[in-house]
Amino acid sequence: MELTYSLCCLTDLVQLREISEQTFTTAFEKDNDPTDFKKYVEQAFALATIKKELLNPNSDFYFACFNKELVGYFKLNVKEAQSELKHDDGIELERIYVLKKHQGLGYGEQMLLHIKNIGHNRNKKILWLGVWQENKGAIQFYERHGFQKFGTHPYFIGSDEQTDWLMRFHLSIL
Ligand SMILES: CC(C)(COP(=O)(O)OP(=O)(O)OC[C@H]1O[C@@H](n2cnc3c(N)ncnc32)[C@H](O)[C@@H]1OP(=O)(O)O)[C@@H](O)C(=O)NCCC(=O)NCCS
Repeated sequence: MELTYSLCCLTDLVQLREISEQTFTTAFEKDNDPTDFKKYVEQAFALATIKKELLNPNSDFYFACFNKELVGYFKLNVKEAQSELKHDDGIELERIYVLKKHQGLGYGEQMLLHIKNIGHNRNKKILWLGVWQENKGAIQFYERHGFQKFGTHPYFIGSDEQTDWLMRFHLSIL
């Protein structure tokens, strides 16, 4: 059941783009206006967009594999790459996704533990994230793993303004 992790580099670009679009679409397409969603996906998961994010020294993507099979990925931001706060002692979990067929098997929990350790080892105090307020399953998942709501921020899917809960975990308790 133990996952292995690899930090993504440019040679992973195509696979990273593919898993990013696939997991996002599977999770959220059904709950969004098709036009807004298409517009968002075309921009957010364009090869050029992901390449730019990969090359940002303050962002890291990691693949999570089980038995060498890719089961999910996550993205971490520090410093200026954070979408809010931008404090030096903060680290943002911007994305965490497990492929649909591998969900509910405990991989997300393992990934979150690993992410907390990365933050702690990088001397960060706060691990934080934004999660769509309608994503009840994910909110419950974060709460179960010690995250607490500390605010909200708007998030646009095309022209549709949605509300994300901002949630944080204090890494100093580790
Ligand atoms: C949220 C997510 C990363 C959790 O990973 P996971 O491997 O399924 O998580 P685990 O198996 O460790 O734990 C499952 C828990 O996650 C939550 N969960 C959220 N979405 C879920 C989904 N689609 N399927 C299963 N569990 C889900 C449930 O609360 C579940 O709790 P339970 O065990 O009490 O039923 C993963 O389900 C996922 O990628 N979901 C879709 C994308 C998403 O919402 N990402 C977060 C964006 S902020």
